Amino acid sequence: LKLGVLISGRGSNLQALIDACAVPGFPAEIALVLSNKADAFGLERASKAGIATAVVDHRDHPGDKPAFEAAMDSTLRQAGVELVCLAGFMRLLSPWFVGRWQDSLINIHPSLLPSFKGLHTHERALATGVRFHGCTVHYVRPEMDDGPIIAQAAVPVLPGDDADRLAGRVLEAEHLLYPHAVRLIAEGRARVDGDVVWIDGP
Ligand code: GRF
Repeated sequence: LKLGVLISGRGSNLQALIDACAVPGFPAEIALVLSNKADAFGLERASKAGIATAVVDHRDHPGDKPAFEAAMDSTLRQAGVELVCLAGFMRLLSPWFVGRWQDSLINIHPSLLPSFKGLHTHERALATGVRFHGCTVHYVRPEMDDGPIIAQAAVPVLPGDDADRLAGRVLEAEHLLYPHAVRLIAEGRARVDGDVVWIDGP
């Protein structure tokens, strides 16, 4: 399965996908890493791994989201991308783009959805007093951080945690979860059925 990974920044989840794809037998490969920021550190990670990169800068299309998204869409299609993976991509995608990639567009979010959509999830988890927190990989729908859940991982909230410590624990789980979710899809084992995903096999 050919992946297109969309990033805006440091790209540690991208790195986890690069490393997973490098393991013989992994059923996916990264065809393109696409960033909306030319200085995203993730672009260096991709280049180092010999993966094609592209930059589509939203600031080159001021006030024109359709043009920005059309440019991303054609760049992804030219690269032969079959599954788009959002990995710290910080622009909200329009219903048009989401529809173009219906059930072929996934995101990783640092909370146990549907709790804590949006930003600052670790601070909010601590302020809410939950005892478990975690991360979710889900199919993207037009609403932010919404859509059928493919996989989740929980981590404990521990005494003495601050947002950074908790974020680090969640991030470690993210790096395992994203490749796992991609594998489920690439092996044809994640079946979208309305609002839920059924997983076939073990
Ligand atoms: C991760 O926490 C991810 O869940 C969220 O943005 C962050 C991206 O980190 N969507 P990185 O760029 O993958 O290191």
